[in-house]
Amino acid sequence: CFPKVTPSFIAKRNFSISPKKMSQNVYRTNTGCPIFNPTASARIGKGGPVLLQDFHLIDMFQHFDRERIPERVVHAKGSGAHGVFECTKDITKYTKHTMFSEVGKKTPMLARFSTVGGERGTPDSARDPRGFALKFYTEDGIFDMVGNNTPTFFIRDPAKFPVFIHTQKRNPQTDMKDATMFWDYLSQNEESIHQVMILFSDRGGTPYGYRFMNGFSSHTYKFVNEKGDFHYCKWHFVSDQGAKGLSDEQAKSLDGSNPDHARKDLFDAIERGDYPSWTLYVQVMTPEEAEKYRYNIFDLTKVWPHKDVPMQEVGRFTLNQNPKNFFAEIEQAAFSPSHMVPGIEVSADPVLQVRTFSYPDTHRHRLGANFEQIPVNSPKCPVFNYSRDGPMNVTDNQGSMPNYPSSLQPLAKEHHEPNEKHEKWVGQVTYHMDEITDLDFEQPRAFWERVLGKQPGQQDNFVKNVAGHLSGALPEIRERQYKVFSRVHTDLGQRIREATEKVAKEMAENESAPINIAEPHMFQTN
Ligand code: NDP
Ligand code: HEM
Repeated sequence: CFPKVTPSFIAKRNFSISPKKMSQNVYRTNTGCPIFNPTASARIGKGGPVLLQDFHLIDMFQHFDRERIPERVVHAKGSGAHGVFECTKDITKYTKHTMFSEVGKKTPMLARFSTVGGERGTPDSARDPRGFALKFYTEDGIFDMVGNNTPTFFIRDPAKFPVFIHTQKRNPQTDMKDATMFWDYLSQNEESIHQVMILFSDRGGTPYGYRFMNGFSSHTYKFVNEKGDFHYCKWHFVSDQGAKGLSDEQAKSLDGSNPDHARKDLFDAIERGDYPSWTLYVQVMTPEEAEKYRYNIFDLTKVWPHKDVPMQEVGRFTLNQNPKNFFAEIEQAAFSPSHMVPGIEVSADPVLQVRTFSYPDTHRHRLGANFEQIPVNSPKCPVFNYSRDGPMNVTDNQGSMPNYPSSLQPLAKEHHEPNEKHEKWVGQVTYHMDEITDLDFEQPRAFWERVLGKQPGQQDNFVKNVAGHLSGALPEIRERQYKVFSRVHTDLGQRIREATEKVAKEMAENESAPINIAEPHMFQTN
């Protein structure tokens, strides 16, 4: 059973600054003026109106009125911590990335884990993929690896992302989660099935906590070495705590009893010095192998089976410091797959290409044009360039340095030259609809037969998990989704149909019954 809220931990983590240190400070306005009584407003007489000249009062309210920034459009509820990455194997033959420049090299980093569909206050135990976002403060600047706890995704054409996300959020009329919208989309877009299979397993959709899940780059990226040669790669962060999931019943119970369970588990573990860690493995493929490979390596709905492309252990990261201020260090963190450094590049995966636009775009909306100046997002190396000014510029704005390539104060030449002989893309502009083939069902089938089939009870749980959700969708949509599951395996389609229709029948029978809550307590008024 999952750990309960322990008052001792709550007490320990409250306001860690020592009382002695605090007592040396007086309360001041944001402009520094000391204030005698911060919780009293200036008024005329004892019961009279307040005065406009009370700057402290007005300033406090203007700030309060602007406290909220937009939450992330997806992945709004998340938690994070600081840590360190250590390289454990020499892979300089693949990459010149400074994180891997020598065995033992350490790079400071930040991690943020999240659910996807819910708002900032929703339960950590929702059935959902989990975000697995990492920011590395390298010598060459910020490098972000923004992945999930699933090695695949629901789409492979980026144009589907906004509509897909709408169906996972709330109904435009009722503002409620809607199983019909959810399955209506998925049953019409069958390339989603691999991710759906992983999502409805206990481990994929309801991880035991953030410490107990693996993380994946999911996309194919490119490693580039000192000579400019490249390899394709996928990244896997395997939890050293072990990957495990909650059953549907446990997750639903936590929804109500401890909606911050994953946040609490991560925070408390770090607070007591039980630092969680993940081992990094990479899968690497040459361009020639990629061309001949059975699967399109830019198709985000596919994995590279381990027996085809072995996992190579290359490093480990450990989270060892909780944020001192959640808003400053976690809420304002801006991760993007476009934050790359020499030695790693994005691949031609179309979903990844669109992500490189979407994240910085939303950061400008969520945090402002100078979001890179927020300390958690700032590179730790010196930055000289020709960008200047803009709203909320809080640095020295590069002082008196020229804001154009000046002959008077030239910058040094960067020695990492882009290699122009990588991929060559030739073709006509096309607008292909996704073509679904039998190949799309091979890996979901392997997951059902070999992965879930190997672990006692996991196939049964999977069927139960789907039935509990799919039963809420309209009958014609349920029918369409049974057909998709049957393409994975006829046995699976049949089992899901039977289990779902049983739950749907029970739900229909109970529909007219009143909500099962004890009579509300009525207060008598005189
Ligand atoms: P393998 O048997 O070599 O690997 C299976 C992988 O699945 C392992 O990484 C395993 O992790 C992981 N796994 C086990 N149970 C679950 C679960 N309930 N939810 C999510 N992942 C789980 O086989 P293949 O490489 O041929 O892959 C077979 C299928 O496994 C794939 O089609 C895919 O669905 C799934 N998978 C594959 C991954 C890959 O990168 N190849 C990664 C993750 C999942 P562990 O070893 O810790 O048990
Ligand atoms: C967050 C867009 C696919 C992982 C976000 C955000 C946007 C976005 C706009 C909010 C960012 C912010 O406010 O800081 C997209 C688009 C996608 C896509 C357009 C596809 C076209 C994916 C995929 C993955 C992923 C495939 C994983 C492999 C994440 C994570 C976050 C996130 C982990 C949270 C980052 C954080 O912790 O701040 N996405 N996304 N997304 N996305 Fe995506």
